[in-house]
Amino acid sequence: MSQLGLWKKRLEEKLRQLVPPFEPQLLYEATTYYLFQEGKRLRPLIVCAVSQALGGDLEDALVVGCAVEMVHNYSLIHDDLPALDNDSIRRGKPTCHIVFGEDIALLAGDALLTLAFEVLSDKENFRSMNEKEILLLIRELAHRSGYSGMVGGQVLDVRKLSTQEEISLKKTAQLFAFCFVAGGIVSKRIEILRDLEEIGLSYGLLFQVCDDYRDKDGFYEIYGEGLREKIKETYERTYERVKKLGLLTEEIKSLFDHVRLETSQPH
Ligand code: IPE
Ligand code: IPE
Ligand code: MG
Repeated sequence: MSQLGLWKKRLEEKLRQLVPPFEPQLLYEATTYYLFQEGKRLRPLIVCAVSQALGGDLEDALVVGCAVEMVHNYSLIHDDLPALDNDSIRRGKPTCHIVFGEDIALLAGDALLTLAFEVLSDKENFRSMNEKEILLLIRELAHRSGYSGMVGGQVLDVRKLSTQEEISLKKTAQLFAFCFVAGGIVSKRIEILRDLEEIGLSYGLLFQVCDDYRDKDGFYEIYGEGLREKIKETYERTYERVKKLGLLTEEIKSLFDHVRLETSQPH
């Protein structure tokens, strides 16, 4: 099994350990419905890969990975609701509100978001993080998930209040920026957090562009004709920056394959 495959398996075990069954069972089932499905787990894998490249503790990276995966899955539950994208299928299965009802799906999202911060704020969950580093992780995740990040981006998206680039940067890229930055915090490399943030924002932008390329008709009408060149340039510049920072491990190389437009097939 590849290193990424092994981390994914470890992450899934850790998620089950951090979210044991609770009452009411209905809420437990709805809360874990997306979380225990086979997602790509890209965000936690980035935290692990950056931590590994910088010499951080894998167990600590996995805990942070679980927290960001909880925030990601909460955002998907809410994003699928009739009030937002009104989607009935995700990952090939009925969406959370189709299975459990809108009321429970909304509350399951709330439970996942709060659980992420419960996990992150428990020092017992970590091996080598001090209180100051834990606080920084909490603040970073809150900031990038909230009004200046994911939630703000969703508002710009549903009301079409900005350019596609700014929408993608906020609704998707800020959470990816958290993953790169968190890898730096777990590895106690505070002096390069700014570099990691910028790499993460570019990675996230490329990720959303590839996702839209696969999913949306009229892709070039949404993003504009000059996009292909701009995306190629962003990819190359970001890849070079990763290399310069000494982060270009086999695992990070594989994670960059997910954000190459040429490898994204439109359906
Ligand atoms: C989907 O994210 C939502 C976007 C931000 C485009 P992913 O493609 O990472 O979702 P899963 O978790 O692998 O299903
Ligand atoms: C989802 O974006 C982004 C967030 C949940 C923040 P999209 O609506 O473009 O992604 P999919 O197509 O639902 O996965
Ligand atoms: Mg959606």
